[in-house]
Amino acid sequence: MAFDFVTRSKQVVGLDIGSSTVKMAELRPVRKGGYELVSLGIEDLSPECIVDGVIISKLPVSDAISRIFAQQNVKNKRVATSVSGHSVIVKKIALPTQTQEELSESIRWEAEQYIPFDIADVNLDYEVLGESAATGNLDVLLVAVKKEKITDHTSVISMAGKNPVIVDVDAFALQNAYEVNYKPSTRSTVALLDLGASIMTINIVTGHDFLFTRDVGVGGHQYTDFIQKEFNLSFAQAQALKHGEPADGIQPSEARHIIESVNEIICLEIQKTFDFFKTTTTVERIDRMLVSGGAAHTPGLVETLAQKFDIQTEKFDSFKNVTYDSKRFPPSLIANRSPDLAVAVGLALRSAEE
Ligand SMILES: Nc1ncnc2c1ncn2[C@@H]1O[C@H](COP(=O)(O)OP(=O)(O)OP(=O)(O)O)[C@@H](O)[C@H]1O
Ligand SMILES: [Mg+2]
Repeated sequence: MAFDFVTRSKQVVGLDIGSSTVKMAELRPVRKGGYELVSLGIEDLSPECIVDGVIISKLPVSDAISRIFAQQNVKNKRVATSVSGHSVIVKKIALPTQTQEELSESIRWEAEQYIPFDIADVNLDYEVLGESAATGNLDVLLVAVKKEKITDHTSVISMAGKNPVIVDVDAFALQNAYEVNYKPSTRSTVALLDLGASIMTINIVTGHDFLFTRDVGVGGHQYTDFIQKEFNLSFAQAQALKHGEPADGIQPSEARHIIESVNEIICLEIQKTFDFFKTTTTVERIDRMLVSGGAAHTPGLVETLAQKFDIQTEKFDSFKNVTYDSKRFPPSLIANRSPDLAVAVGLALRSAEE
């Protein structure tokens, strides 16, 4: 029992604070490599709360967090959250072979050339990925996040009376969710695409190996914005139309061309990312695309992506290897929201190594 207590006390609640919705997931390991859903919550935010990645109104966000925890009766206060967007830099860099001590001395200086902000304003983290005897180089994964971005997130969590013990990056949380659910045993290369409301995270992995990531400022909000402008609708009306419901006498079919035009913009950004990725790697092709985030539901998007890139493409299933009690969590809810919860599930998988 004591052991059980120890393991449980290390568990964290995954909390994905998106610009459109706050998503929470709590998991419990059940068998080797498998998990069970303990609690789950989603709360919508008004579009004015988080703008351009900045939490403008903290109170409604911390209230949403409080509501989620209260509704699900979540006792665990230890929260893992994540950040994304232009305040986050993730890069694989090659450095001359050196000792751990030398690296911890030189990393800030080395990092400076890759970071477009003042180094004093960022939190820096790194991980040695491996050493190449052939080149005499050390492959290092560099992660830099603007301090204000981190405090933005931790402060709303603290305001809700919770303890932010881990601040991760969306791309890595996504990869965690992928590894646990898809058990990548082969050397196949997969592009994980998380399409949120304002940010698209692209993470390219081979098996368990991280290769490349990029965040682009495009997402579900772009569809809503274009529809709003075209038909002179409110945000809520445009959102409804995008989700396939008539609004103000306008039929969803009339918005089809707008949705397609934004699909094109998204395809173009993915193409740019793939082109750049190709210049950095020896990997020949991407075998599969898995699309998560709320905007994965956009009518026709997955099909457009599959066609455009000629890559097997499907929606991400965050519960492929996660069991749940169907009396507590309606299977239809799980099925409908499964792609949206990828980052939250990935965060819930992190045990707290503070
Ligand atoms: N059924 C649907 N059809 C079309 N779009 C949808 C549907 N459901 C949700 N969306 C869109 O998905 C977006 C929200 O997705 P998500 O919750 O992943 O974003 P977020 O994490 O809050 O945002 P971000 O990560 O960009 O800050 C919104 O733009 C929403 O309109
Ligand atoms: Mg998101």
